[in-house]
Amino acid sequence: MKLDQGYLIVFEGIDGTGKSTHCQLLGDYLESKGAPVRRLFEPTKGTWGMKIRKLLTEGRGDVGPEEELSWFMNDRKEDVENNIKPSMANNNIVILDRYYYSTAAYQGALGLDPLRICRENEAFAPKPDLVFLFTTSPEKCLERIQKSRTEQSTFERLDYLQKVQGIFDSLNDSVIRRIDTAPPLEEVHEILRGEVTALIFGQDK
Ligand code: TYD
Repeated sequence: MKLDQGYLIVFEGIDGTGKSTHCQLLGDYLESKGAPVRRLFEPTKGTWGMKIRKLLTEGRGDVGPEEELSWFMNDRKEDVENNIKPSMANNNIVILDRYYYSTAAYQGALGLDPLRICRENEAFAPKPDLVFLFTTSPEKCLERIQKSRTEQSTFERLDYLQKVQGIFDSLNDSVIRRIDTAPPLEEVHEILRGEVTALIFGQDK
């Protein structure tokens, strides 16, 4: 199947909401229909992404909020230039696990201005066609994380995640679809499928 334009579909939400599972399911579904899919995630595994991953597992140390923000921005600039723009130019459907809404929420929760972060990102990062913003309570997400992982990152403390969720709740953008992931997986997947098929093929199913 060839599309006549590229699409950017973003998944957002705090850790433990089920983003990655739904990215996978949606990507598999679109591929089963023969659609050209490119799966990406941020932080990436590039130079900046690896620096960020170290910060996540080892703690922030003396890295301040502005410096942390600059690492995420540098990582995204590379991702935009090397992966996102070329894939979209090739008329792919890019399925992206986290984008600049995460930066607004997570680095915003460190005291930086979320709207400024969005503006600075929108200056270089393509605007998504759809953003699925998953909303599950931080308490429930932490419960899930603790069941599935032995180590918890600096980014997964309850008070921090509550602030992050608060900023996600405050974001206002016509491309955002807020999705409650408490219902069964298949039910949520159906909703996502409906939205994406309507966007790409102009109908509900
Ligand atoms: P995540 O995709 O959840 O990693 P994993 O698959 O290992 O769970 O992202 C790692 C963390 O990075 C997550 O806690 C959110 C954080 N993050 C930011 O703080 N700012 C950002 O701009 C992005 C993209 C992620």
